[in-house]
Amino acid sequence: MCGIIGIVGKQNVTERLVDGLKRLEYRGYDSSGIAVLNDGKLERRRAEGKIKGLEARLSQDSLDGQAGIAHTRWATHGIPNETNAHPHFSGRVGVVHNGIIENFLDLRQEMSHRNFTSETDTEVVSHLVDELLGQGLTPKDAFALSLKKLKGAYAFGVIIDEHPDHIYCARAGSPLALGVGDDEMYIGSDAMALAQLSTKLIYLEEGDWAILTPESYVIYDLNDKEVERPITIISGGPAMAEKGQYRHFMLKEMYEQPETIGRTLANYIDEYRLVSNMPEALDFSEFDRVIIIACGTACYAAMTAKYWFEQIAGMAVDVDIASEFRYRKPVLAKRSLFIAVSQSGETADTLAALRYCKEAGVKTAALVNVMTSTMAREADIALPINAGPEIGVASTKAFTSQLTALAALAVAAGTSRKTISSEQQNELVKALIHTPRLVKQSLRLDADIEKMAFEFSKAKSAFYLGRGTQTPIAFEGALKLKEISYIHAEGYAAGELKHGPIALIEDGTPVVVLAPFDGLFEKTISNLQEVASRGARIMLITDPEGAEHASSLADDLIVLPKAADFIAPIVTTIAVQLLAYHTAVHLGTDVDQPRNLAKSVTVE
Ligand code: G6P
Repeated sequence: MCGIIGIVGKQNVTERLVDGLKRLEYRGYDSSGIAVLNDGKLERRRAEGKIKGLEARLSQDSLDGQAGIAHTRWATHGIPNETNAHPHFSGRVGVVHNGIIENFLDLRQEMSHRNFTSETDTEVVSHLVDELLGQGLTPKDAFALSLKKLKGAYAFGVIIDEHPDHIYCARAGSPLALGVGDDEMYIGSDAMALAQLSTKLIYLEEGDWAILTPESYVIYDLNDKEVERPITIISGGPAMAEKGQYRHFMLKEMYEQPETIGRTLANYIDEYRLVSNMPEALDFSEFDRVIIIACGTACYAAMTAKYWFEQIAGMAVDVDIASEFRYRKPVLAKRSLFIAVSQSGETADTLAALRYCKEAGVKTAALVNVMTSTMAREADIALPINAGPEIGVASTKAFTSQLTALAALAVAAGTSRKTISSEQQNELVKALIHTPRLVKQSLRLDADIEKMAFEFSKAKSAFYLGRGTQTPIAFEGALKLKEISYIHAEGYAAGELKHGPIALIEDGTPVVVLAPFDGLFEKTISNLQEVASRGARIMLITDPEGAEHASSLADDLIVLPKAADFIAPIVTTIAVQLLAYHTAVHLGTDVDQPRNLAKSVTVE
């Protein structure tokens, strides 16, 4: 959420800063800006909207400088316009910020004699540093003292006009990495932003701050003590992910799923011996309970996993939305394993939940896509999903990989806790091995679903129903539709609809029913009939046997390949992804960067 990048060197930095911003655009895209020091003078260009707006501005009015900071914004305080776009300037100081300064109103009050020009929380930081410089403090002391006055979450980059060869930066709560170059140093919100610039990264720890010059960097900890932090070598600058033949990243990422699921599986199963293959550090026989915490789509993967861990491994499972978890003061039973599920590994609330459990002495694991992320580094055990960079803001391939990994973990748990026999383990692993093939077959329904989406896109509101492991997929289907097509949608456990929401069903209301032919099929079909008899337009997503029994009840029918019950939710996901995607395309929305959203949410 908000991306920042900075370069201090001996050559012009503008173009490379803009390139870095493009790599960070997934973090927010309502405005962007860039500031440089040119002959000791602060200059900036800012623009509302996406980074291409900033590029247009720069092409009319270029910027040259050998030190600079840049920002792509997801608005928290103040509407997304040019005035609120970063970098913010106050006197000698320019700042870019990711996070929220919670005590900004108090600080604004204390500095009411100064001229504030934006509605942002960030602007207090540039004023604070400038105020302290005005009192005669050195830049280093002014920066360090400013940090002490701030409450909240932040990653900053700061430049000061009288100190052209320096970038000051800090991290608390929001991610920030340093990049080490030859005669150049860098800061960036993530490894992807820095990938083209440097292979030597240093991840700042909580409370760290640093001063960079072209030739050097010095890092200080929370107590202003100079510290060394390890250098991580990353494999060199990957090209920016390309859409290739696909119209959108989301479409490309959906089509990658047979392969990404296969890559996830390779981490967790031995396909020759048909057994699960877990990291040594993870022994489920040490635990009786699992706490799975996540946000958004990742939380629906967690909800699905609850069924698997309970049914396969006989473990009690708590699933909670990360933003609720730690504030309800959860009772953490002994012998619990905490699993954070997060594509980015940076989501602020999920990270806070992980830290909460770690502090309480609970063993922690992080199931993440980005293995250099804060969660992967801080958890006791980092579990990869290996889905590769996901660019579309609406998560698709990361979700099916999260499901796949969690399913394999449940099998491992069942095996080490001896709640399943070795034959049952082999059967479940076999089912997992079939997943990529079934997903590939499901993707062949693309053209059919595209046609159905045309009618669907006329809806004002839609419902998704499922039972058992299909329930979280109904939630995910509704979320996908909302976030990219802006059609109001709700997912419900099929049995729950009659407890209120059924009042909303009227003639033609689309209801998507997820009902593979499993042990719950008949019950789900009864619920289907309850809404059909009230005028709902039914889209039934099922398998060949389900279609045989219930096709006459459906206005639209999507027949997925037959899958074992265990992995059926992964297969059903493909249909709801395609439905949301084509609906959004029909409506002409910005599929890859839907309004108001950001891919990595680093504020609470
Ligand atoms: C944002 C994204 C969602 C994602 C959620 C959790 O809201 O738009 O797609 O599911 O954050 O992100 P995480 O990186 O923790 O999985």
